[in-house]
Amino acid sequence: MTSYADTNLKNWECRVPIHLKSYPLEKFKAGWDPLFPIEAKEIGNVAGLDVLHLQCHIGMDSLGLVRRGANVTGLDFSPSAVTAALGLAKETGLKAKFVEGDIYDAPKLIKKKFDLVYTTWGTITWLPDIKKWSAVVAKMLKPGGRLYLADGHPTMLIMEEEEGRLVHKFPWRTDPDTPLYFDEEITYTGDALPKDGSASYDWAHPLSSIIGGLLENGLRLDFLHEHETVAWPYVTLMVTDPDEPRMFRLPENLPQLPLSFSIGATRALS
Ligand SMILES: C[S@@+](CC[C@H](N)C(=O)[O-])C[C@H]1O[C@@H](n2cnc3c(N)ncnc32)[C@H](O)[C@@H]1O
Repeated sequence: MTSYADTNLKNWECRVPIHLKSYPLEKFKAGWDPLFPIEAKEIGNVAGLDVLHLQCHIGMDSLGLVRRGANVTGLDFSPSAVTAALGLAKETGLKAKFVEGDIYDAPKLIKKKFDLVYTTWGTITWLPDIKKWSAVVAKMLKPGGRLYLADGHPTMLIMEEEEGRLVHKFPWRTDPDTPLYFDEEITYTGDALPKDGSASYDWAHPLSSIIGGLLENGLRLDFLHEHETVAWPYVTLMVTDPDEPRMFRLPENLPQLPLSFSIGATRALS
């Protein structure tokens, strides 16, 4: 692994015990559905499908897919996240496989092919090479299998909040060896991160690289949707969406921007 991946792994290892306290796990155990409204509406019927959940974190969404009837394998490079996911599966009696490993090693680590590769909310930004990611997605799909991706919109991710306004702060694209460096005091649940795990690197991927990579690797684009809401408060000026309390949006007095996007794509049959 590169030193960027080592730094990010340390960051995620620190976040797991924090998220185990702040994710709504008790609600989940009582039957609550963790999927956000965007993916809940767009993934379609997953019952009976073999699903690979990339960057599954502590497994709550993976197990949400199990409750929908899917046969789920989750993959994450954080040993603590995988341990937590296995623990959650045991506690809830929901059956899923969880594999520890870097996403780029998925084809080596998991020999099975899937009907659906699923990855949502805070995933591809952690990956240096989006073309290589597309190749992994294509390799993990059965012919005719599909990808579902929902994440922060590249237009939002170039912005930062300054004095109650959004300002353009970050580049719209990065190369694998020129990541953005962050040293953050809090994780996205609003809880404090320890100083020795606060550093991280991430990468800006334009929509053209994300979609271009999928097309180059033999997938067909089924849809690209842009949304005025996102699953976490990216900047503090964001407000809760009145129609969906788990989603965040810009206040009405500001010009609206796409804050997230979702993609459905299908691997060719042959
Ligand atoms: C923001 S979380 C995903 C959140 C997830 N959607 C959820 O609902 O909890 C990002 C995850 O990506 C994982 N990750 C980051 N880089 C990775 C890599 N190179 N390979 C595999 N997993 C990685 C982290 O360990 C973390 O669990």
